[in-house]
Amino acid sequence: DGDTIEIPVVVHVLWNTPAQDISDAQVQSQISVLNEDFQNKNTDGTLLPANSFQAVRSQGLPVRFVLAQAIHKYTKTSSFSSNDAVKNSKRGGDNAIDAAENLNIWVCNLGQGLLGYAQFPGGSLSTDGVVILYKAFGSRAKVPGGTFTTSYDLGRTATHEVGHWMNLRHIWGDDNGACSGSDLVTDTPNQGAENYGTPTYPHTSCSNGSKGDMFMNYMDYTDDKAMYMFSANQKDRMMAIFTASGPRSKMGD
Ligand code: ARG
Ligand code: ZN
Ligand code: CA
Repeated sequence: DGDTIEIPVVVHVLWNTPAQDISDAQVQSQISVLNEDFQNKNTDGTLLPANSFQAVRSQGLPVRFVLAQAIHKYTKTSSFSSNDAVKNSKRGGDNAIDAAENLNIWVCNLGQGLLGYAQFPGGSLSTDGVVILYKAFGSRAKVPGGTFTTSYDLGRTATHEVGHWMNLRHIWGDDNGACSGSDLVTDTPNQGAENYGTPTYPHTSCSNGSKGDMFMNYMDYTDDKAMYMFSANQKDRMMAIFTASGPRSKMGD
């Protein structure tokens, strides 16, 4: 409907070996995951433990991701880093396409165990967007024959990075367990450090009460199959960027 913000997505697949040139089916599976996760239509939301965070789960954002273009381009670069070379045609990458109107996603090989990284709103348009490791892009559940890495094979790396692109911070507040940092979101419990793997509920830190950490939030570091929600106030924080005075006001109108 007219209240839904349409987000055109440009996917740049930079490949050095044929395996890195992922299929358009795998690209499309990631678009589907983004729509499911941001619209709160992901079926694994039922995994939320009884009497935990049901009341503060996001009801879904009025956004729709639409694949505008999938570019497949050979690169001589065997492995990229977080230095943004992948976003520059002169540095072995591919230039962003109209980042004021499109979400640009670069898919490539990344070194140092990096699954992805993002740029917060308000930065340079030439580097605006997210970068995702080719083996963590898309969903193995939707494309069984695709190229995936264990534990990060359901498309949640892009959900996490697009969360940053929509102004979300890490849920633990990036303070290495000090309990003083904040994600600037009211309804997510204060949390010490990041969680990995598939934690058992509840996992408490920072005296955050009987429900403990919201480790099943996309902005934690748990496995793809262990993260399945945004909170209501995360939704509010994300939607604020699309308002007339927000940093992504040009998108979707
Ligand atoms: N920026 C994080 C990293 O590179 C992404 C973590 C994504 N987590 C996930 N379960 N997919 O480590
Ligand atoms: Zn992150
Ligand atoms: Ca919080």
